[in-house]
Amino acid sequence: MNILLLGSGGREHALAWKLAQSRLLSRPEDKFYAAPGNPGIADHAECIELDATNHHEVIRFCEEKQIGLVAIGPEAPLVDGLADSLRSVGIAVFGPSKAASQLEGSKGFTKDLCERAGIPTAGYVRTASLAEATAALDRFSPPYVLKADGLAAGKGVVIAQTRPEAAEALTDMYSGRFGEAGAEVVIEEFMEGEEASFFALTDGATILPFGTAQDHKRVGDGDTGPNTGGMGAYSPAPVLDATLHGEVIEKIVAPTVKTLADEGMPYSGVLYAGLMLTREGPKLIEYNVRLGDPECQVLMMRLESDLGELMLACAESSLGACEPVKMARDTALTVVMAAKGYPGTPEKGGAIDLGDAEAEGAKVFHAGTGRGEDGGLVASGGRVLNVTATGANVTEAQKAAYAAVDRIDFPSGFCRRDIGWREVERERD
Ligand code: AMP
Ligand code: GLY
Repeated sequence: MNILLLGSGGREHALAWKLAQSRLLSRPEDKFYAAPGNPGIADHAECIELDATNHHEVIRFCEEKQIGLVAIGPEAPLVDGLADSLRSVGIAVFGPSKAASQLEGSKGFTKDLCERAGIPTAGYVRTASLAEATAALDRFSPPYVLKADGLAAGKGVVIAQTRPEAAEALTDMYSGRFGEAGAEVVIEEFMEGEEASFFALTDGATILPFGTAQDHKRVGDGDTGPNTGGMGAYSPAPVLDATLHGEVIEKIVAPTVKTLADEGMPYSGVLYAGLMLTREGPKLIEYNVRLGDPECQVLMMRLESDLGELMLACAESSLGACEPVKMARDTALTVVMAAKGYPGTPEKGGAIDLGDAEAEGAKVFHAGTGRGEDGGLVASGGRVLNVTATGANVTEAQKAAYAAVDRIDFPSGFCRRDIGWREVERERD
């Protein structure tokens, strides 16, 4: 069959790498396209220009190339309803509808759904004006968690330590800085605990667990400095032991999938639950309607099942006929190499020599890479490379990943040197 993958980051490179191994693409005539892709994805797929915000253009391409499956990587096209447009003309899509994508597109939507379905999460208030929000602070105690309702590229959450700081942040959020995304602000109770991510595939009826991971959001070693899209991750997350894993499915994921189906917006695709493991048990922080970046890279490194077949089964509502997802027992760990300046203004155009980084079984997924004038690999974004390796545990995977990092020559890049530190400490004890 012919497949189209949308996206251009490290997440999509990992998906492209795995999709290229799918039985769906095993015949010589099967074509694999990516839009826009990146130099790493170009090893697996034909990269093409396609404006994902122009649904007619995407449909026209799919019809012309007889695309049998569209896999949507990032959230923006999902929240924008691209999956609905494609489905309306009979094209199979991996990714939820616009209605179901509100799980990521609107914090308020998700909080209300949790309340209706009795899903454990932080207490909250939705506000629609600065006056309302400022008054609502009375109902909370510090630290205050303030969230722009809509998509804000990971920058819409403020944790304010004091009331004046919270009031100032609210003024800023209601000043229009987040555009549409900031038209509403959700104020939440602060939850204490360790964070972990849980992934599940679903077609709206069947739920197949798709692995767990932990991410490192801060830019600096020891979890210091500003927040980023993620500086590294590992999978599985041992903190989500079998008991917690069962609890997350039973109390969080299953009621979400059921409630959405009951309310006429069945979820199809991958559901990514960001969790806080609190003393009272796991609670939902937020949902994403796509795979995590860089969590996807470590999941794909462990995935033994056929990704294309799983995606198609989600798209065709036949996940019930699939075997449980198989993942290697090994741990996979990825280190993000970013361009200096990230998450502020990253240096562009820095030369990269990957050398023999992949010599010992590591994989280097491309995120923000491009080709320089001489055709050489250069940095073209904030997060540039995802250096990924496996090992018997986090300590071993970490060693293998940094050995690969050290074989890469990228003078204008940097990375954290402590990805996996929590688990490495626990493994030492
Ligand atoms: P979100 O974009 O909703 O995932 O929030 C970004 C980050 O803010 C999360 O990864 C948490 O570290 C933190 N966070 C969000 N909501 C809460 C909360 N209610 N309590 C504590 N920390 C939170
Ligand atoms: N790494 C966090 C995310 O993809 O949202």
